[in-house]
Amino acid sequence: MKRIFTLFAAALIVGVFHAGAAVNIIPKPTAVTEYEGAWTLPSELTISYSHKTLAPAAGYLEEILAPATGYGIKTKKGTKGDIRLVLTTPSADLDESYTLLSGPDGVTITSASYKGIIHGISTLRQLLPYQIECKSLLRGVEWKVPAVKVEDKPSYEWRGLMLDPVRHFYSIEETKNLLDLMALYKFSKFHWHLIDSQAWRIEIKKYPLLTSKGAWRDPANEYIDKACEQSAIDGRNPSMKLPKEHMREIDGKVMYGGYYSQEDIREIVEYAAVRGIDVVPEIDMPGHNWMATQCYPWLSCGHDGTDPLCLGSDEVIQFAKDVFKEVFELFPYGYAEIGGDEVSRIKWQNCPLCQERIRKENLGGLEELQSWFTKEMEKYFNANGRRLIGWDEILEGGVSPTAIVNWWQGYHADVVQRSTAGGNEVICCPTTYCYFDYPQNNETMRTLYEGAVVPEDLSEEQHKLVKGMQGNIWGEFIPSEARMHYMAFPRAIALAEKAWTEKTDQNWDCFIARMEEQLLRLSTMKVAYRPLVEQ
Ligand code: ACM
Ligand code: ZN
Repeated sequence: MKRIFTLFAAALIVGVFHAGAAVNIIPKPTAVTEYEGAWTLPSELTISYSHKTLAPAAGYLEEILAPATGYGIKTKKGTKGDIRLVLTTPSADLDESYTLLSGPDGVTITSASYKGIIHGISTLRQLLPYQIECKSLLRGVEWKVPAVKVEDKPSYEWRGLMLDPVRHFYSIEETKNLLDLMALYKFSKFHWHLIDSQAWRIEIKKYPLLTSKGAWRDPANEYIDKACEQSAIDGRNPSMKLPKEHMREIDGKVMYGGYYSQEDIREIVEYAAVRGIDVVPEIDMPGHNWMATQCYPWLSCGHDGTDPLCLGSDEVIQFAKDVFKEVFELFPYGYAEIGGDEVSRIKWQNCPLCQERIRKENLGGLEELQSWFTKEMEKYFNANGRRLIGWDEILEGGVSPTAIVNWWQGYHADVVQRSTAGGNEVICCPTTYCYFDYPQNNETMRTLYEGAVVPEDLSEEQHKLVKGMQGNIWGEFIPSEARMHYMAFPRAIALAEKAWTEKTDQNWDCFIARMEEQLLRLSTMKVAYRPLVEQ
């Protein structure tokens, strides 16, 4: 902790921070060439886009530029304009690289993909004064872009943040705000943990009780709710209070929660797509399903309404497929997550149906029963054009080589090696670095930035199977958006650079120097981040 304060003091004296000037982009681009001069935005400004698929990107850029400048902004298809968005090969979806060139005649952003154009827009946003993030008219700011050439591409395809709106509900607006922040720092995947034991948050039309009943709970009966309220009182911290807007009277009782209708989900998917982000839904099975079994007790062994799902019952397997059928219709991506973590398998030991399944399928025990379920579901995923992702427990009892493993158990240091040995791809989010609900300070952020989120001793072949990294915002003790921002920022920005920038180009001192301007940007966006210097 001391070290960073010393660094800050030194930086202020020698003027390392160029707040508002020059180039402070995070994540650090692959190459930046700076030229003399700058381009001043004209008060009547045209954004052109070379291909019709870029129209939403042009609209998004207009939304970024218009409020603070108050300028008249037009978007039009073509190649002439003050800011030109140019798609070179409209089919190259996976190529996220882009080039940004700014000079006396404006800005050109070129990429082979929509996502690359969005990354160029995020870079342009960071080349402008941080006040561009202000949502109302600001006079007296010179809206200038320094003359530069930025050539840039990500190190990893998977640059993710996971949000858990189950333990506490976050509104559509709050979710959009997080997506805005993710786009600014070039995250590519929003892993949405939509169900857990404390609630079910996604409307499934075939099983309406999951949300009519399962999205609401009595906060007086829930440990995490009581703990947050107590912490709000003890710590005099309003961000720990349960938000009143998520309380509702149901049958004469105040209940706490909320859910996303299928319309809401479509809105989020579209909002994310405009920002170049894929939304990866997680429906955690077969554990973490206490609320689902309360809604439909036949989902549980002995119909007793407790976790986990009964894997001996064919109706339960059908339920799982029915749920994912609706999920696949809502999320048009190549992946979905089945969870699979922390299952209390012991209950299957005394369930005649589960034991019958073990006999019939010739399984070696309880781990293999879960693994049978995961493989059965993977076949269903694949038949619907989806790859299956699961937390690293899916390795237990054996996993098919096409499943993707989310490494979370940092205390199991060999998960990446074990996964890749079986040919499985891995996303790294070990507890050691990537749990954004864990306490933080400047040292933990530095440890994240410099630490081995991806193990360092991998062979080239093993490394090819690492899809990338992810930060997990688990919600147990994050009841409000303000608390979410405090817990996740600025450390998410450190992860963003780690996942994007070439490892050899990552340098903590350089990162922290660029952070100064980012914090002004976050403040302007009203993000309640954790200040680096304690107050
Ligand atoms: C997890 O943290 N249980 C994936
Ligand atoms: Zn059972």
